[in-house]
Amino acid sequence: MELSVKNASLADIETDVIIVNLFKGVKTPAGATGAVDSALGGLITDFVINKDKFEGDFGQTYILQTYGKIKAAKVLVVGLGEAKDFDLTKLRELSAKVIKKCEATLKPKKVSSILHGAGIGGLDPKACAQAIIEGTLLGAYKYEKYKTKKAHSIDSFEIVELNQDIIGQAKEGIKQGELIAKATNFARDLVNEPAMTLHPSELAEIALSFKGIDTTVIDGKDALQMGMGAFYAVGMGSEHDSKFIHMKYIPKNPAKKIALIGKGVTFDSGGLDIKPASSMREMKGDMSGAACVLGIMKYAKELNLNIEIHGIIAAVENMPSGKAYHPGDILTALNGKTIEVDNTDAEGRLTLADALCYASDLKVDEIIDIATLTGACCVALGQEAAGILGDQNLVDKLKNSADSAGERFWQMPLYKEHLEALKSDVADLKNTGGRLAGTMTAGAFLKEFVTCPKWAHIDIAGCAITDKEIRGISKGPQGSGVRALIYYFGEK
Ligand code: BES
Ligand code: MN
Ligand code: ZN
Repeated sequence: MELSVKNASLADIETDVIIVNLFKGVKTPAGATGAVDSALGGLITDFVINKDKFEGDFGQTYILQTYGKIKAAKVLVVGLGEAKDFDLTKLRELSAKVIKKCEATLKPKKVSSILHGAGIGGLDPKACAQAIIEGTLLGAYKYEKYKTKKAHSIDSFEIVELNQDIIGQAKEGIKQGELIAKATNFARDLVNEPAMTLHPSELAEIALSFKGIDTTVIDGKDALQMGMGAFYAVGMGSEHDSKFIHMKYIPKNPAKKIALIGKGVTFDSGGLDIKPASSMREMKGDMSGAACVLGIMKYAKELNLNIEIHGIIAAVENMPSGKAYHPGDILTALNGKTIEVDNTDAEGRLTLADALCYASDLKVDEIIDIATLTGACCVALGQEAAGILGDQNLVDKLKNSADSAGERFWQMPLYKEHLEALKSDVADLKNTGGRLAGTMTAGAFLKEFVTCPKWAHIDIAGCAITDKEIRGISKGPQGSGVRALIYYFGEK
């Protein structure tokens, strides 16, 4: 979709549809909507508001024919809800819903929109433009790579603004919003890609293709030589070699140095502790954490992030075979700790253990890992939020960034009892902690491999792939973590 901003009056725009808005309860439209209403000879006031009783509830829409009164073919009036509840998160969600509505009902080629929120809404113009574009591109996302018939798609989207003074800010917002949405949609594409065509080596190829990123790929066998016995074991059952991927983004004067680790299990069959069919169905998505990291690394340079980022993915496929690791095996991680394999389906934490040791050795200021780690997290939080655990200060900051970005991170505790659940009779610890508190015992396991004090773990098992639309984002892969983390990295 072509994106632009135009300094013009809405009445003069040649387009298939103009999107305008109304707050709840407004009887006489003002601002840009008011200007369109005047140009239409009061159609919005007379018909939409007075005759048809359009209330302006959040997300409510009304399609108005213009009958040649202005150059645009149609006007789409959208409700913003109560003015006091309106914010950038609402605007992003609204924009996603509206573009879907537009596409489904009007099938336009060109869509024009007012800069919602910046006028009567009183929000910052740049932030508004960014939220509109994020929402629009996230809402319009479709995965059609394997469809022989493609659905209708909108060619161009422009923001129309009469006030010359804020055009520059709108442009900046559009650029930023576009990059953030592209990073998210790139992650969604990767999660949608079947496990048949996305193995650890393909993840490594993708990482190697990024401009401005210095990437090292360590083969599974070499990783074992280096001491990554936990990561290596998980990939033993697969026909496809494991790859340990280390991407470096190093800007000129970075404010800090962080490691960002993504779980990259390209398919999780469970291994010898094989999953039942229904649980295995979505397991091509067990690399959603890796997809998040790749999305961010791909756009880090263009986003002009002022942080040194080490993107790390211990990529494996977890399969049963004659060469697979067994329940009862004892593995040694990079930090020398030994792990008894209680269940081969608790593989993510084994791959992350070595990645966390490796990241700790980099002497970074902060370590963040993101992973589809536990079914228990789906049970606890459903599809609406990711679980987050770790250093309180870092958790607080990440939660705030998630809120601003329209994602949800919900903190779960890490008590000493969670570590006690991992006691093994024959090794330093075992890789499962029993039926209770699964997300926390997994977190306690990971912590044993971290030496950096500022560490946070984000469990996206529940929210990474959904079976319903979540705040304007269509069902399927959500690109979880991409926006929240980019917002976090962008904070001063
Ligand atoms: N990849 C799964 C977790 C998962 C479940 C992700 C559902 C997305 C949706 C993980 O590797 C796993 O299998 N975890 C086990 C751990 C258990 C064996 C201790 C689980 O949660 O059942
Ligand atoms: Mn598993
Ligand atoms: Zn898994």
